[in-house]
Amino acid sequence: MSTPERIAIIGAGMMGNGIAAVFAARGHSVTIYDPFAEALTAVPGRVSGVLKDLGWDADAVKRVRTEADLARAVADADFVTEAALEKLPLKQDLFVQLAAATGPDCVLASNTSVIPITDIAAKLNDRDAARMLGTHWWNPPYLIPLVEVVQTVRTAPEPIQKTLDLLRRIGKKPVHVKRDVPGFVGNRLQHALWREAVALVDAGVCDAATVDEVIKNSFGIRLPVLAPLENADLVGLDLTQDIHDVILKHLDRSEAPAAILREKVKKGELGMKSGKGFYDWTPETANAVRKRMLDHLRAVLKP
Ligand SMILES: NC(=O)c1ccc[n+]([C@@H]2O[C@H](COP(=O)([O-])OP(=O)(O)OC[C@H]3O[C@@H](n4cnc5c(N)ncnc54)[C@H](O)[C@@H]3O)[C@@H](O)[C@H]2O)c1
Repeated sequence: MSTPERIAIIGAGMMGNGIAAVFAARGHSVTIYDPFAEALTAVPGRVSGVLKDLGWDADAVKRVRTEADLARAVADADFVTEAALEKLPLKQDLFVQLAAATGPDCVLASNTSVIPITDIAAKLNDRDAARMLGTHWWNPPYLIPLVEVVQTVRTAPEPIQKTLDLLRRIGKKPVHVKRDVPGFVGNRLQHALWREAVALVDAGVCDAATVDEVIKNSFGIRLPVLAPLENADLVGLDLTQDIHDVILKHLDRSEAPAAILREKVKKGELGMKSGKGFYDWTPETANAVRKRMLDHLRAVLKP
């Protein structure tokens, strides 16, 4: 295979449609598979919505084909991205089928959020596991630049390089994650912060609004231009060591979700979708937050 051009996407949900729009807008032909007919019927409208929203070529939707048969969807693919449900047995079985239905040079990628790629590839023989890797896109995939390209001990170097090249050519900012650890890099960092945020509320140190206000009005503003390790160098590693000497032993180290989170889930307080979570929500206030996030991303990223 020279340059991957024919893209197959497995799962026509939020991520699958967004990823399809990015590949199609950059000139690739895309086939998208989903076992549910309604999901496939919605594809042209959802992809067109993304293209219109971003001011990309509306005709790109013509490069996206839907297919209800998995083997036919991937038969001539150079690159497969799986964006089905976040369930290990389902993904394991899908990759067995994908390995059998694709050519030996086709790269097989999973967009799992946190499941180790090694576990998803567990049922593959070594030849197929060599072309299996993770491509962890972030939501919304047509705006957030990062894709984590995750290598397992069984992945060969060539598919990794092909994937990094392909993602760069469609305008993403891929990084090579060289060890397949749960949560990869981004979600480990993100959920280290979320664990502490929930723990502070659980311990009654402050309320949820205060935690969010602290982040938004302090290091949150600085993060896009000064990330933690640059920041450590800026303030000095000696000061960083002194701070860690005092603070690390006080940070939350729970291995399970906090009591407050488990109680809220048990009571059906699931956040925006149920009207109550850490905050109270109406459909209007929830939509206002979603709009605020998308407006902000469009403004800072100018796709
Ligand atoms: N939503 C996010 O923020 C986000 C971010 C990064 C990664 N991911 C990951 O991407 C994947 C998809 O997430 P999503 O948010 O698009 O979910 P989603 O629920 O919107 O879409 C999942 C799609 O998979 C389809 N599906 C169900 N069974 C299937 C099967 N056997 N084969 C193929 N497709 C099947 C469903 O019909 C649905 O259309 C998950 O692994 C998720 O963890 C999600």
